[in-house]
Amino acid sequence: MLLDRLPERAAITQLLDTARAGHSGVLVMRGEPGVGKTALLEYAVDSAAGLRVARVAGVESEMELAFAALQQLCAPMLDKLGSLPDPQRAALGVAFGLSTGSAPDRFLVGLAALGLLSEVAVQQPLLCVVDDAQWLDRASAQALAFVARRLLAEPVALVFATREPCEEFRGLPELPVGGLGDGDARELLGSVIRGPLDERVRDRIVAEARGNPLALLELPRGVPGVPGVAGASGSPGRIEENFRRRLAVLPAATRRLMLVAAAEPTGEPALVWRRWCGGRQSGSASAPRSSRRRRTPDF
Ligand SMILES: Nc1ncnc2c1ncn2[C@@H]1O[C@H](COP(=O)(O)OP(=O)(O)OP(=O)(O)O)[C@@H](O)[C@H]1O
Ligand SMILES: [Mg+2]
Repeated sequence: MLLDRLPERAAITQLLDTARAGHSGVLVMRGEPGVGKTALLEYAVDSAAGLRVARVAGVESEMELAFAALQQLCAPMLDKLGSLPDPQRAALGVAFGLSTGSAPDRFLVGLAALGLLSEVAVQQPLLCVVDDAQWLDRASAQALAFVARRLLAEPVALVFATREPCEEFRGLPELPVGGLGDGDARELLGSVIRGPLDERVRDRIVAEARGNPLALLELPRGVPGVPGVAGASGSPGRIEENFRRRLAVLPAATRRLMLVAAAEPTGEPALVWRRWCGGRQSGSASAPRSSRRRRTPDF
């Protein structure tokens, strides 16, 4: 359940209503790791009744692959390719690896992406959700920023979430996402503690988390005497370090499975499983007997 976030929810609702009324809108949500950007994007998707939804997330390991993210966003819309002017269709075809040719003109790719989204939105208002924009490949970030700046009367809502300011998105409407208020922070903390908790310990966790929901959910694992949770953790940076440590003690096969799952952009369990099984059959990922019995990591 999403706690707090009234101004952010209102901004999202307004954006969606604007698209429903036939006009475009853009929001760039920015905030530190774990602050709740993806949770707000989920809220946008859940609230997008009547809109078609297109989603993409930047993938750190694909940052060097030009147009990787744009391709993922536009792939379900390629049936509209025929509606684009020839030079744009050709540029997008090369960018997405549908045809061969020299490196496409980025202006033409931007125009083509704009044309494609607009064409889709003619049939139904469109919500485009771009998560982890800090990891977009540069070519996709430029194309999406280009689209964001030129959308006018098209019923397209474009929402980005990013940890850091992106050069490409400068000047677009920003929605800073900060920590939860004290009351909501305590409520979220209370939702993961099973049993009585010393008031001073509770205060310390709330103070250290600074309203960051991920910290509130993970910090208690690092505090001795906190009932119902185990482990070690800290601020957003330390939380990442904590995950790293918890991963390090998992069996090699489990870690490899998690790596495959993390690298798989669609989040499709069947696909992850097939790749995982394929890797094991080829002998590159054979697991020790004991670790194969372990089904999933205990996160
Ligand atoms: N307003 C909220 N109320 C309750 N739980 C929340 C809220 N916001 C976020 N959370 C929870 O906190 C955790 C972190 O949130 P989320 O994944 O959205 O962060 P993020 O900003 O996207 O982080 P990252 O930059 O690492 O992607 C999730 O488990 C999410 O469900
Ligand atoms: Mg996120």
